[in-house]
Amino acid sequence: MRSSVLGSVWALLLLLREPTCRGDEVSSSTVNPCCYFPCQHWGVCVRFDEDKYECDCTRTGYYGENCTIPEIWTRVRQFLRPSPDVVHYILTHFRWLWDIINYTFLRDVLMRLVLTGPESLVHSEMLIQTFTHKVLNILPFYQTVRSNLIPSPPTYNSKYSYLSWESYYNLSYYTRLLPPVPEDCPTPLGVKGKAGLPDPELLVERLLKRRKFRPDPQGSNLMFAFFAQHFTHQFFKTYNRMGHGFTKALAHGVNAGHIYGDNLERQLQLRLHRDGKLKFQLIDGEMFPPTVIDAPVRMSYPPGVPPENQIAIGQEVFGLLPGLGMYATLWLREHNRVCDVLKAEHPTWDDEQLFQTARLIIIGETIKIVIEEYVQHLSGYLLHLKFDPTLLFNSQFQYGNRIALEFSQLYHWHPLMPDSFIIDGDELSYSQFLFNTSVLTHYGIEKLVDAFSHQAAGQVGGGYNINPVVTKVAVGAIKESRQLRVQPFNEYRKRFNLKPYTSFKQFTDNEEIARELEGFYGDIDALEFYPGLMLERTRQESIFGESMVEMGAPFSLKGLLGNPICSPEYWKPSTFGGKVGFDIVNSATLKKLVCQNTRTCPHVAFSVPTGEHLQKENRDTKVRTDEL
Ligand code: HEM
Ligand SMILES: *[C@@H]1O[C@H](CO)[C@@H](O)[C@H](O)[C@H]1NC(C)=O
Ligand SMILES: *[C@@H]1O[C@H](CO)[C@@H](O)[C@H](O)[C@H]1NC(C)=O
Ligand SMILES: *[C@@H]1O[C@H](CO)[C@@H](O)[C@H](O)[C@H]1NC(C)=O
Ligand SMILES: *[C@@H]1O[C@H](CO)[C@@H](O)[C@H](O)[C@H]1NC(C)=O
Repeated sequence: MRSSVLGSVWALLLLLREPTCRGDEVSSSTVNPCCYFPCQHWGVCVRFDEDKYECDCTRTGYYGENCTIPEIWTRVRQFLRPSPDVVHYILTHFRWLWDIINYTFLRDVLMRLVLTGPESLVHSEMLIQTFTHKVLNILPFYQTVRSNLIPSPPTYNSKYSYLSWESYYNLSYYTRLLPPVPEDCPTPLGVKGKAGLPDPELLVERLLKRRKFRPDPQGSNLMFAFFAQHFTHQFFKTYNRMGHGFTKALAHGVNAGHIYGDNLERQLQLRLHRDGKLKFQLIDGEMFPPTVIDAPVRMSYPPGVPPENQIAIGQEVFGLLPGLGMYATLWLREHNRVCDVLKAEHPTWDDEQLFQTARLIIIGETIKIVIEEYVQHLSGYLLHLKFDPTLLFNSQFQYGNRIALEFSQLYHWHPLMPDSFIIDGDELSYSQFLFNTSVLTHYGIEKLVDAFSHQAAGQVGGGYNINPVVTKVAVGAIKESRQLRVQPFNEYRKRFNLKPYTSFKQFTDNEEIARELEGFYGDIDALEFYPGLMLERTRQESIFGESMVEMGAPFSLKGLLGNPICSPEYWKPSTFGGKVGFDIVNSATLKKLVCQNTRTCPHVAFSVPTGEHLQKENRDTKVRTDEL
């Protein structure tokens, strides 16, 4: 009796352990072969039997068991392809060359290369550009393949490591470029590295926590840092309550949901329902977002902040920082200003049409500023970037975007944050700054813009630069990536056509970091994605290392130019209420955003003034009024 019960329990256990056992005895120690990440060059690993797999190498340009043997054209392309570091070097040096290029048609050609890669030129109808393509084959620019790196339509998500309709269709998921590490692997990151991962708190404490503030060598300031946070939080809205890997921002891109709310109900509460405008309050004659009494939407404030002190903004967390409140105020004023312009042009239009058209203009202005000023600053390129959707009209390009988990992970740029905030001669600590609803109105927009434009932001790459107040966010990012089984840093290097690192010493020139990482992970192939991005050696005089740029830029460009307003049907004056509206989009700048919405025009920039800049700033002040 007793033995038969034991026997059936045993049988049950065996069944549970080997649910797919078919005939031949397979030992329970069989490793899922996809744990080795055997398929190279974007090949897809499909498991067949317990220990069998196949790589699908279709259209990878490679063949063979693991997609490792290049086809002849791949060989030619490889031979001609310069490394991203070489391209970066050229794009950030040789000013004379860029000055010539900037003023000629070459700028358009190069811009197209940056956006789509060399193939676009093959399709181009213009003879002269085909000719240029040939010339450029010997120049090392065309490697800057960008948008092709991001699959469109999207592929995997945190639940589906294979293509599925659910994964395509259910917008609540962030998409993923690489599927999760299979569940049943010998080590947390596949087959490499130790059996256990380092304690995330310890990892952050030892390698990411700030020792002494290290300013960004590219000169980014807090105006830049808060723009980054404000802009990206329209599409990074992790929905933890739903589970991991979900988002609340179902538009998956630049939709200005941080201004208008991420759903219709919220939008309707924020709208004035007159002349297309948003609700506002006037304080000393200046326009600010309304309180939640006037616009009853949920905002995330700590308990105890009375509703009359809570401002109502599209993004529910923007009460957190006066820097975010400042941008929210600027965009609110801009929206209402654009509504006035549109109404003057179209006296017959109703509230709805004025609102909707103003929103498209705001989205267009955002993309313009992000490409020509924000990305321009971040890249350090001397090639003058240009927002011109028509550059893509002759190439194969899918309009549409899906925000990826990896993009959200890599955008955790908390090292940007300083140790305190210097405004109008006052030094505010974090406890005085965070959730302090009066900072915005106490100083006003002009003083905040001026202060944030002058104060340096921290260098993001290179380690040891996250203020202790926000280190727990980095811990959270690492924990999330483990729960969602994000693949190793080196697998992402390969996915973005970068060479995987072969050792921690090659990965970083900081011996302490290399030593610590060696101890934590044991194997460079087991280094995790987010720590990899943050600790990689930075490029010379740069805010980031190679991987952050080479991985971040494709996500970013796809998100910006995949916007519907950039498509041929939309990108025309009528979409924006005619020439006047279209001109607003095409001439938008950060400076106008500020100075057309403030009484005095403060100093405004994405980088701290240098000696040279200061002189220019003085000159600028003189011409400012005729410019605007
Ligand atoms: C003092 C300033 C900041 C504070 C207090 C702060 C705080 C936070 C907190 C509490 C979270 C949520 C963490 C979690 O749910 O696990 C978060 C997420 C995030 N933060 Fe920050 N942050 C700051 C500045 C920045 C800046 C300058 C950036 C630059 C881009 C940034 C980018 C992000 C991103 C991308 C996320 C993920 C958002 C999501 O997935 O929903 N943060 N931050
Ligand atoms: C393919 O990859 C697997 C796993 O990494 C390896 O064992 C095998 O030798 C590789 N095959 C070839 C032909 O390189
Ligand atoms: C490129 O040309 C524009 C005008 O088209 C000018 O404003 C800008 O300063 C030039 N940039 C460089 C790097 O020469
Ligand atoms: C998306 O998937 C989640 C998790 O399975 C589910 O709860 C949610 O209802 C799905 N959304 C839609 C619109 O089907
Ligand atoms: C909030 O900011 C105001 C204005 O800078 C300052 O006077 C006040 O002390 C701050 N409040 C807190 C709780 O720190």
